[in-house]
Amino acid sequence: MTKTIGFIGSGMIGSSLARLAVAAGLDVVMSNSRGPETLADLVAQLGDRAHAVTTEEAAKAGDVVVATVPMSAYDKLPADALAGKTVIDTMNYYPERDGRIAELDSAEVTSSELLQRHLANSRVVKTLHNMDHRRLFRAGLVPPAPRTAAPCPSPGTTRPPRPRSSGFWTSWATTPSTSAHLPTPGAASPAPPVYVWPYLGDRPEGITKEEAQRWFQEAPGEPVPADGVKELVDQAVRGPVGGSFAALPFWG
Ligand SMILES: NC(=O)c1ccc[n+]([C@@H]2O[C@H](COP(=O)([O-])OP(=O)(O)OC[C@H]3O[C@@H](n4cnc5c(N)ncnc54)[C@H](OP(=O)(O)O)[C@@H]3O)[C@@H](O)[C@H]2O)c1
Repeated sequence: MTKTIGFIGSGMIGSSLARLAVAAGLDVVMSNSRGPETLADLVAQLGDRAHAVTTEEAAKAGDVVVATVPMSAYDKLPADALAGKTVIDTMNYYPERDGRIAELDSAEVTSSELLQRHLANSRVVKTLHNMDHRRLFRAGLVPPAPRTAAPCPSPGTTRPPRPRSSGFWTSWATTPSTSAHLPTPGAASPAPPVYVWPYLGDRPEGITKEEAQRWFQEAPGEPVPADGVKELVDQAVRGPVGGSFAALPFWG
């Protein structure tokens, strides 16, 4: 049973997931690159179930550890401290932000496979990488019906991470979609069809960039149940390597 979730990365995704986890009665240990003292405000907002620690401590304390840092920092994750753990990988490769990573650019491996290589003694599970932090938070706060699902490909296996009863999934009111084809690179890429857009609902037509940004901030989103995710995953093909901010729905 998951009782404590370790977070390496406490930004938009890390802090949103931590809020949901605390609301679901789990303990969270938060870390970032600048040190625990810089997380005092966040931890105060999260309450008694939250502590700020170093990345090593977060890795050791978590029954499950969420790695949610920019892809450029994947090789800074503490491999020894994470040995034997399930590591949830929410990371996407955006060369504009992360710089170029040669192994990814050559399409030799996916970003999760690269992370799995670095964390050779952990079990990397890619999931929650395909919902934006606002829809993820909202789906957890006001659980939609039907329950929203996320793909969960794990390099080298088609099994979803841990059983649903573990508390991990219940804490953010999403559910894993179990597809035999989940580990396809297309489903793990920051690109349609199973990335961000389906969870947002229809974007109004003919809107300006400013209106698109406001819509992105405020749109309640659409639940995408497990069978819908499976259908989208089955349609996924590997596109160009890496995401592009200009292609995101709020860009314009
Ligand atoms: N934002 C979204 O809606 C979204 C959706 C799906 C997936 N993702 C992916 O999830 C990951 C996190 O995204 P985000 O939007 O949450 O990013 P973010 O807001 O920029 O936060 C990044 C976090 O990672 C920490 N970090 C950076 N380098 C680190 C290191 N070497 N060791 C420990 N912590 C480190 C940062 O700490 P400092 O501030 O101290 O440097 C910060 O807490 C990215 O790969 C992103 O592509 C994001």
